Amino acid sequence: MERPQQKRGRRRCVVLAVVAVLLLVVIVAVVLGLTLRQDSQPLKTTFIARCEEFKQYDCQKIWDAFEQAYVGRDPCKVPTEAYDPFIAAAYFKPECNRMMFWSKTKDVVHDFTETNNCFVTLEDTVLGRVADGLTWCGKEGSSETFTTGCPGWSDCANNTVRSFWNRVSAAFADAACGDVTAMLNGSIPTPFSPASIFGSVELMRFSSPRVSRLNVVLVTQTNSVANCTNASFKELQKELDAGIAYNCKEVAEAQLQECSSKPCGGCW
Ligand SMILES: *[C@@H]1O[C@H](CO)[C@@H](O)[C@H](O)[C@H]1NC(C)=O
Ligand SMILES: *[C@@H]1O[C@H](CO)[C@@H](O)[C@H](O)[C@H]1NC(C)=O
Ligand SMILES: *[C@@H]1O[C@H](CO)[C@@H](O)[C@H](O)[C@H]1NC(C)=O
Ligand SMILES: *[C@@H]1O[C@H](CO)[C@@H](O)[C@H](O)[C@H]1NC(C)=O
Repeated sequence: MERPQQKRGRRRCVVLAVVAVLLLVVIVAVVLGLTLRQDSQPLKTTFIARCEEFKQYDCQKIWDAFEQAYVGRDPCKVPTEAYDPFIAAAYFKPECNRMMFWSKTKDVVHDFTETNNCFVTLEDTVLGRVADGLTWCGKEGSSETFTTGCPGWSDCANNTVRSFWNRVSAAFADAACGDVTAMLNGSIPTPFSPASIFGSVELMRFSSPRVSRLNVVLVTQTNSVANCTNASFKELQKELDAGIAYNCKEVAEAQLQECSSKPCGGCW
């Protein structure tokens, strides 16, 4: 014969156990649901989320302008001009004296602009941020965006991704004003390459008197091979619009970290 108290205690135990099991089932279901749910448009999701970080754009409109450049097209036949509507939709305000260009220094330059509140690279603006590090393409006869099976950077000249970077780089350089800075790599034999985007698209768009000076920051490491006297910089200066002053400074990579807390160009 159980006492009523024991009975009540046991009933409470059973109720608690049932509640706990139910909770567990719900949690497992939610977690599974979240992990198994397929994002049908992963590129668009990333693109829109990055665009919205700027809090000043109609991101759906920018996406529509971006997408029309390549959807339904052969991914090797996307001309740079296909992205003109994207450039028009993703308007950005140039910041004179703060624009930072780069070649073969991607990680270092972005670590730098992230901590330094002065300089702005293409990838810090909406133009470059939305697609940085991503791959995408369309297909003839399809209205979809693909993120795999796309041609690589060098597979064909007018591929979806390469034409995008050529177009946005041109827009960024067209807007350059005042003193511009270019971070180049001293650990490679030819720090200035005429074949790079900087050498083939950006440099020739700097125009005097809108641009007054080009400051080359040559990032050196202990194993660096090139310095500012390297002959490739003679070629650079030949390409540079007359009237734009030129300067080159070697800055050790380790020193850049200290520089990032200094005001604009405090190190060069
Ligand atoms: C790439 O497109 C441009 C026009 O934007 C054209 O002049 C050029 O011939 C094309 N190159 C190739 C390899 O198709
Ligand atoms: C320069 O290029 C080399 C080789 O690609 C790379 O290892 C190095 O990190 C680059 N230096 C900078 C400062 O980005
Ligand atoms: C720059 O590099 C060259 C070799 O490329 C070397 O002869 C010269 O001494 C270097 N200059 C400086 C200032 O380090
Ligand atoms: C300097 O530039 C020339 C031509 O642009 C290149 O061939 C040479 O190897 C470069 N590097 C060094 C370390 O001298």
